[in-house]
Amino acid sequence: MSDTTEISEASVEAAVVAALAAIDAAADSAALKVVRGEHTAEGSPLARLNASLRSLPNDQKAAAGKLVGQARGRVTQAFASKENEIEAAENAARLAAEALDVTALPSRWSAGARHPLSLLQERIADVFVGMGWELAEGPELESEWYNFDALNFDEDHPARAMQDTFFVEPTNAHMVLRTHTSPVQLRALLGNDLPVYRVAPGRVFRTDEFDATHLPVFHQTEGIAVDKGLTMAHLRGTLDHFVKTLFGDDAKVRLRPNYFPFTEPSAELDLWHPTFKGGARWIEWGGCGMVNPNVLRSAGIDPDVYSGFAFGMGVERALMFRNDVKDMRDMAEGDVRFSQQFGMVV
Ligand code: DAH
Repeated sequence: MSDTTEISEASVEAAVVAALAAIDAAADSAALKVVRGEHTAEGSPLARLNASLRSLPNDQKAAAGKLVGQARGRVTQAFASKENEIEAAENAARLAAEALDVTALPSRWSAGARHPLSLLQERIADVFVGMGWELAEGPELESEWYNFDALNFDEDHPARAMQDTFFVEPTNAHMVLRTHTSPVQLRALLGNDLPVYRVAPGRVFRTDEFDATHLPVFHQTEGIAVDKGLTMAHLRGTLDHFVKTLFGDDAKVRLRPNYFPFTEPSAELDLWHPTFKGGARWIEWGGCGMVNPNVLRSAGIDPDVYSGFAFGMGVERALMFRNDVKDMRDMAEGDVRFSQQFGMVV
């Protein structure tokens, strides 16, 4: 096939009309690219007309050149405006597809609920923080020295016996899973300048059965205050304020004489409330007392200059009588429906 065509108004117009029709019909940029190839690239009618200019006699070149040039101009123009039109349409379509409704409500995906033991532990600690106390903590894998010796437990105290304590191998390393939060008393005293007012929520371990009223892993909150001139009256006043803040103004505490190696005198801490499930009554909640001088000595503190009080109570027990949970196992099994009843769904 020849790559030249006779140049006439008709042949030029035919090429232009064909090109404009094809441009008009192109629906998107890919189609327009094909049309551009067919109507402007080498071999296309317009390209062939343009090539024919070369073989014309000189006196015809100007007029024919003008004719072909105008034709190519019209087609180029049509491409440009179609290109703009398609680009605008394609942009609009892309924007529509990517549109986000920033006012749409997010779909709610519930991840779980805070555990009521965590919530109660935080509330207990908050009451003391509100009185200016600070938090303290210690390890769950604890040395026997902190868990027993420094707390004035005799070598043969029954609490050390195998039925209570998880001893950790190798036994000659003398490590235990702490049986109470009281070792944090020593850590608070050894790690800080006096006076010390610290509260320590924590997890403790005993070789107890897993039943409605016992868990082998449970929670306590410990408190220790060591300052000059502290007496049993300060202990009593602190506990009174604490239970009234946590349980309401009708709550009362009662201290009953008892024995703990790390306090002297020691007392059982009972709690009374008129609206507890099961009626107004005294409930045994924890232990407390004046820090035994031997414990102060273990921490390098002179008991003739400083005195202190301490207390510790069970968090599971508090949840039982405060929220009428009848079976402690519900607190350990991790069913989110149990936690959801206490609010704080997250
Ligand atoms: N640690 C004791 C227990 O687990 C509770 C206790 C009693 C803590 C007397 C104290 C205290 O701080 O002074 O049974």
